[in-house]
Amino acid sequence: MNIEDLSKELSLVHIQNQTELEQFRIRFLGSKNVLKDLYAALKDIPNEHKRAYGQQVNELKQQAEAIFAASKAALSVSDNQTQKDDLTKPPADPHVGSHHPLSLIRREIIEIFNRIGFVVSEGPEIEDDWHNFSALNFPPEHPARDMQDTFFIEKGEQEWALRTHTSSVQVRVMEQQQPPIRTISPGRVYRNEAISARAHCFFHQVEGLYIDQNVSFADLKQTLLFFAQELFGEQTQIRLRPSYFPFTEPSAEVDVSCSLCAGKGCNVCKYTGWLEIMGCGMVDPNVLESCGIDAEKYSGFAFGMGVERIAQLKYRVTDLRLYSENDLRFLKQFTAGVS
Ligand code: PHE
Repeated sequence: MNIEDLSKELSLVHIQNQTELEQFRIRFLGSKNVLKDLYAALKDIPNEHKRAYGQQVNELKQQAEAIFAASKAALSVSDNQTQKDDLTKPPADPHVGSHHPLSLIRREIIEIFNRIGFVVSEGPEIEDDWHNFSALNFPPEHPARDMQDTFFIEKGEQEWALRTHTSSVQVRVMEQQQPPIRTISPGRVYRNEAISARAHCFFHQVEGLYIDQNVSFADLKQTLLFFAQELFGEQTQIRLRPSYFPFTEPSAEVDVSCSLCAGKGCNVCKYTGWLEIMGCGMVDPNVLESCGIDAEKYSGFAFGMGVERIAQLKYRVTDLRLYSENDLRFLKQFTAGVS
């Protein structure tokens, strides 16, 4: 092999894969490479040509090194390319969406009640007066029926309303089923309120109903204590304050001890140490009778909470409007709940 042949060979070389790259390396840069013979021949070259000859061999060597480096770089790029096309390769950095914060909370609430035997029941959002009001013992002049609170829809003779609570679903369950009944009704409800940070014209509820023989107020209290401790932590306490609902007697508002300050008082609980989370009570016998259940034989309790209110306490999101604005910057903060 002389300089000219090797120079020509180098000018034509085109390395296409790793095997060819390795063959090239052994031939031109390895421990027994072809240039070594040329260097060895230097001693036989007449003195006056030695310098030029040496230079030519050096140039060949540099050329071979440059070709090797460039080919190696090109092959590593195209290797990555082939890997991209490898359909068996696991996807890189998959985009993970997130559940809506209200879905996360609703799911958590349902899951807690499922564990103690409550099953989910659902019903229509457009309701008649009977299921939303009359069966629930609302007197005809009750202010909740007023145009201020309820969205009424008129269609022919019949007047319909957007349900103002999911108690309407519980009426439907009682009409269709005899006790024992243990059900929770999650769903969207509507009230005719001006939209602000603290009120919206729709929100979400989970209401519960338990009817059997000998159900007492103590059962209600224990069920709610269990729920509060599962949701807010073992240390949580509850307190019941007397209240009024047409469909329960006696009725109460349920407060939980503030999980942020452990009841010591902070700006979230307005320095009371307590946070109101739901309404509850013993189902009024009139309601049982309206739904075809013998009130002499059976008794029961009911409760109802707002999902936004619970989410507000768990996620400290205080502006209700954020839940329905679909702002991705808000929604993306709940990715951790994806499972
Ligand atoms: N239905 C009531 C409301 O919407 C909540 C509630 C349910 C209160 C059951 C007591 C018993 O505010």
